[in-house]
Amino acid sequence: MTAATSPVLSPHRISAPISVPISGPISTSGDRFRAARRQTMQLSKPLTPEDMMVQSCAEASPAKWHLAHTTWFFESFVLREFLPDYRVFNADFAWLFNSYYESFSAFPEKRLRASFSRPGLDEILRYREHVDLGVERLFEQGPEAEALRRIELGANHEEQHQELLITDILHAFYTNPLKPRYREQENTEQGSGIRDQKSAAERPRGLAEARPLQFTEFEGGLREAGHAGNGFCFDNELPRHRVWLEPFALGDRLVTCGEYAEFMADGGYQKPEFWLSAGWDAVKHNGWRAPLYWSQDGGARKEGDPGEMDWSVFTLRGELPLKELAATPVSQVSFYEADAYARWAGRRLPTEFEWEAAVEGQPVEGNLLNSGNLTPIPSANLVQNQEKTKCYGDCWVWTSSAYLGYPGFHPLDGALGEYNGKFMSGQMVLRGGSCVTPTRHIRASYRNFFAPETRWQFSGIRLAK
Ligand SMILES: [Fe+2]
Repeated sequence: MTAATSPVLSPHRISAPISVPISGPISTSGDRFRAARRQTMQLSKPLTPEDMMVQSCAEASPAKWHLAHTTWFFESFVLREFLPDYRVFNADFAWLFNSYYESFSAFPEKRLRASFSRPGLDEILRYREHVDLGVERLFEQGPEAEALRRIELGANHEEQHQELLITDILHAFYTNPLKPRYREQENTEQGSGIRDQKSAAERPRGLAEARPLQFTEFEGGLREAGHAGNGFCFDNELPRHRVWLEPFALGDRLVTCGEYAEFMADGGYQKPEFWLSAGWDAVKHNGWRAPLYWSQDGGARKEGDPGEMDWSVFTLRGELPLKELAATPVSQVSFYEADAYARWAGRRLPTEFEWEAAVEGQPVEGNLLNSGNLTPIPSANLVQNQEKTKCYGDCWVWTSSAYLGYPGFHPLDGALGEYNGKFMSGQMVLRGGSCVTPTRHIRASYRNFFAPETRWQFSGIRLAK
């Protein structure tokens, strides 16, 4: 894609809706690569160049940086090694857009990414085009197996950054006094030419009451966990190994905003007895009294009964009244909040192995990026399979499992060994994907991980007992 034709350079893009492309079957590495590259640009469509410079919290990166860094990955780990006559686009980009690979090169501090006004967006788009052409030339030459593995890793890496791009923009728009919408409500952009892909039955219906939470029971016993088969997985999903599970039960849907508001009304954020010590410290230190994007009176926080349904929730579709989201899964909570809610409810969080045992063999169905909702929706709105507990989509669920290597874990060789393994300290595992996780990206063995105080992701709560 050239700068001249790039939709991100079109003016007045903030309020334009977006339809997330539903990819067809991905049959080859080339298809997977092209689909990932195309989808990143599609997700950038509603953004202005100024939107793409914002880095509004420590966890986030500017959208422009995501466009460049995902490209850097292919240049650094594929083209420089496997395309003999490859000409690097700009030698400085090798360190400028390195995220955290210490053994590859030095790199700038993460918090400075918003200061990268140079290179400009046009140059980043030319960089993307240059690298895309390089990878296509490599395909023409018949790449060796290791190059194909790296391209597949790069496509999966880019899908991870697609999710980050969206969650970072949600935070950026939340901190913008105008509270812009990434996506408009349905039927507000007639004639825009952009198709809403959902049937009426699938559209968010926040006013619906949540059906009562029920628990699905599982026998436990000796099980296997970790990736099986020949398909792609990250190194942290291996090796497959045995785990022992006591009998357990999982909630058949996620905890809703309405239920979470009851926890708040019962003094959830005022009573230390519900909280882990570090969690209570986080409540006091950060002044938490609701999930990240909840506010009262359109953002002007005030004292009052936090249980009253006069809160609003900022979403990619703008600010929505909490009372319309009573049946919608609560999102943007930390591990500490998820854990405190579970204690208040007399339940607990599942382990990552309980979640994986419950979901193994299920088709990957749920409110994921390709559904186009871009926000959690009430579970009653999903096509129900009465025999199964739906475990994918809406929000990543915090598990009670610390993020550790499985027995016999071996990181990838070389600099790519830094991809996952070096973060195996002080983080908790999340499972299941969210409303902004590409559908083809998620699977039963997939392990996401964040520090327990992290709140800017679509992270929610599934109870266990
Ligand atoms: Fe990355």
